[in-house]
Amino acid sequence: MAVKPPRSIKPSFQFPRVMLAPIAGFTDRPTRDIARAKGCPLTFSELISARGLQENNPGTLKMLHECRDEHPLVIQLFGGEPDVISEAVRKVEQLGADGVNLNLGCPVRKVFKNRSGCGLTIFPVELVHVIRAMRKASDIHLSVKIRAGVNHRSLNYRLIGDIAQGEGCDAIIFHARTRMMGFGGHAQWEWIGDLKEYLDIPVIGNGDVVDAQSARAMLDETGCDGVMIARASYGNPWIFAAVERYLESGYQRSPPTLEERYATMVHHLHLAVENKGERRGILEMRKQLGWYLKGIALVRPLRETINRLETLPKVLTALEQWRESVENRVNNEREYRAENELMPFSI
Ligand SMILES: Cc1cc2nc3c(=O)[nH]c(=O)nc-3n(C[C@H](O)[C@H](O)[C@H](O)COP(=O)(O)O)c2cc1C
Repeated sequence: MAVKPPRSIKPSFQFPRVMLAPIAGFTDRPTRDIARAKGCPLTFSELISARGLQENNPGTLKMLHECRDEHPLVIQLFGGEPDVISEAVRKVEQLGADGVNLNLGCPVRKVFKNRSGCGLTIFPVELVHVIRAMRKASDIHLSVKIRAGVNHRSLNYRLIGDIAQGEGCDAIIFHARTRMMGFGGHAQWEWIGDLKEYLDIPVIGNGDVVDAQSARAMLDETGCDGVMIARASYGNPWIFAAVERYLESGYQRSPPTLEERYATMVHHLHLAVENKGERRGILEMRKQLGWYLKGIALVRPLRETINRLETLPKVLTALEQWRESVENRVNNEREYRAENELMPFSI
């Protein structure tokens, strides 16, 4: 039986049923703003180094300051030193974030070797001290994001769940893969079901939710309290509203129209340039635009053009021209069909 949560007062903030995952190199401020604008009820920052904050690393501070005046937002920290991470938690609280999350799943070698991310989970005593220090530092909503273990022979998610719950975490997010699995293979949803049954605090399931139906399936099959979506949100900030609608009504939301997709890309571009400056904003938006355009008509030449352009007006013009050519093609096809229906016997 898992250790009972010791806290009697719960923070008012709670995780919703669907949320955008922390994704380093993707969920920057513009991407989070777009997700929220399209109906995502909760976003997470990219992972932020507690030590980087303590050492006033400019890049790390910028990531934290990007989170200013942003709601609802959970800031994700990584680190393995109790005093350093508790200082970081206080900074997160001062900034006014809705919650703080400890990354216990990062598989990257450098992080792992530093006893951070997934690497901290193989030192349970140290982990207890880290979470205890975070809890002591603040009453802010506190969660951890874990994997199942280092590999299939060392599954430790129940132990980590016990520690998180026993030390006063308000929720646990479970990416149902081991470190060894990386991002490949299939997430083992049965592990999520097992952890949900084992713990009392909310368990958020993560791994291979790709659309509204798979979100419903994960909730049904595991009994988890919510789902977190990462890769399926690339170029698809509409996925959160689609999941919510499906969970509420069983109805599918129709995919975004060409006009909606175009307007969102333009909005995202403007936010990226505002946030990062023109050159960096445009460079970073290349991959994002590529995702928005995946599977859409007439995009190959557009992609090639965009990858050569370096100013906002030029990218906007290329997008506008692409939109016009797709609209023309759709109109031509419509007219062609209409004409053929009017003249069914013409050859
Ligand atoms: C490129 C990339 C970067 C990621 N960065 C983070 C991160 O900063 N923090 C974190 O907790 N998880 C990170 N993850 C893991 C995701 O949050 C998520 O757990 C994983 O992709 C499984 O979810 P999915 O199947 O919906 O993609 C990252 C994943 C990818 C692919």
